[in-house]
Amino acid sequence: MNHKIKQLDDKTSAALQGGGAKRIEAQHKKGKLTARERLHFLLDEGSFEEIGMLVTHRSRDFGLDKEVYPGDGVVTGYGTIHGRLVYVYSQDFTVFGGSLSETHAQKICRIMDLAMQNGAPVIGLNDSGGARIQEGVVSLGGYADIFYRNTLASGVVPQISAIMGPCAGGAVYSPAITDFIMMVENTSYMFVTGPNVVKTVTHEEVTSEELGGASTHSTKSGVTHFSCANEIECINNIKTLLSYIPSNCEDEPPFIPYDATDETRTALQSIIPDNPNQPYDIREVINHVIDEGSFFEVHKNFAENIVVGFARIGGRSIGVVANQPAFLAGVLDIHASTKAARFVRFCDSFNVPLLVFEDVPGFLPGTDQEWNGIITNGAKLLYAFCEATVPRITVITRKAYGGAYDVMNSKHIGADMNYAWPTAEIAVMGAKGAAEIIFRKEISEAAQPEVKLKEKEKEYTDMFANPYKAAERGYVDEVIRPEETRQKLIKAFKMLENKVANLPKKKHGNIPL
Ligand code: HXC
Repeated sequence: MNHKIKQLDDKTSAALQGGGAKRIEAQHKKGKLTARERLHFLLDEGSFEEIGMLVTHRSRDFGLDKEVYPGDGVVTGYGTIHGRLVYVYSQDFTVFGGSLSETHAQKICRIMDLAMQNGAPVIGLNDSGGARIQEGVVSLGGYADIFYRNTLASGVVPQISAIMGPCAGGAVYSPAITDFIMMVENTSYMFVTGPNVVKTVTHEEVTSEELGGASTHSTKSGVTHFSCANEIECINNIKTLLSYIPSNCEDEPPFIPYDATDETRTALQSIIPDNPNQPYDIREVINHVIDEGSFFEVHKNFAENIVVGFARIGGRSIGVVANQPAFLAGVLDIHASTKAARFVRFCDSFNVPLLVFEDVPGFLPGTDQEWNGIITNGAKLLYAFCEATVPRITVITRKAYGGAYDVMNSKHIGADMNYAWPTAEIAVMGAKGAAEIIFRKEISEAAQPEVKLKEKEKEYTDMFANPYKAAERGYVDEVIRPEETRQKLIKAFKMLENKVANLPKKKHGNIPL
């Protein structure tokens, strides 16, 4: 047999497991790093320990007996990031296009098993042409073995997928099951069927980038949580993300020691506009409340009417969920609900406390939303909050209307503390709509209906466009001045740090999928 197995000598060590200098050059020309270069930038220097370096494929069909590469197109092992253990796999596109063979899959499964047994995150750097076509069903079986482990590991250890090249066919379903997906702009794409199949079946002409590039998946589909300008940015994002989350579900998120000083933030006094219908950017509120510069936004360009991301407050890692009045008035729609629900469930799985900023006029009305299932999808967010047992705090900055009041981490569904700013309006709906419904007869029979409507609108506003009715009932724990929000939250999260809450015994719930 004419095996092209590389010798472990100086000449080949740099390209070890690569499919040769030409292919490595081609990889670089596309603006991509090699599998090993990626690991070099990802892991603490000198920390990488490789597992399965000399594993080769077993197939002898379609000429595979003549091409055998140690490692079989994937570099697997463990190392540290900022001193913390992680398990990694990095697919090597220079070997059969990074395609997944039986043994390639076994290598990935091995590190996933180790990660689960030892309680550390799995990071997958994906760059692959999918199932190794020459191997047929054993390759498909290999994918299924990975999907199964992805599912078992879900909620046990964090799983992060970086897409750094092609990711097509069923191969997309492993990243899809993981907690976070990052894509690199212009060099990566994800789709179930590529442009050629799309053209044959639907007659649509579309490029790979349009169909499944980073821009598409970060704005239209929401499949990816991060769109990165290049591979280094992608790798840095993985490291940043890890800095907020624990290594497993029994671990606590990293804490940065913090000495309290003057926590008053006067800038918060003037963010809410006088006109309740005028937008403002909720990120301004978030950034003044949390530790300076600590906001790490997730899903930034998708469903912008809700903002989610990690932050620190008093050194403590938290997950922030906030309605965004600057986009669609912060309304809850299908995408916003699913985006936030998934984030809430991640935080709850991994002991990251939740902070909610609420300014929401309700759910988005219309046939588009109803026909596409706002009922089921909105319920996902409701379910996610109801089920979350981590410390949960809400701050109502302005509107808390209708069902959205209940959904956005109200105390009724298990929030621990609920604060409201004096600008809060907690009502079934906006005053005008409410007056039109409940005083319809009176208004229509009035000599001047317009004047009557204004009068009734004011009556409703005086009654409900404030936080005090809710505070009287204890639904709001305290009405606080905006500038003292940070101080209150630091204390409250500390007060809640040993929270124990148990859900009823069950096999698992049935979230409305
Ligand atoms: C074996 C593969 C391969 C594959 C690529 N190669 N994909 N070998 N199995 N799936 C090899 C090529 O033959 C080539 O070898 C080398 O990798 C580089 O590929 P190129 O085509 O030269 O690279 P590029 O032009 O960048 O195109 C990349 C690509 C294309 C878009 C990924 O290779 C491609 O379309 N591949 C097939 C994709 C596919 O249909 N996969 C199966 C999906 S179905 P040489 O020796 O010439 O350098 C699937 C089912 C999973 O994955 C089911 C799970 C449920």
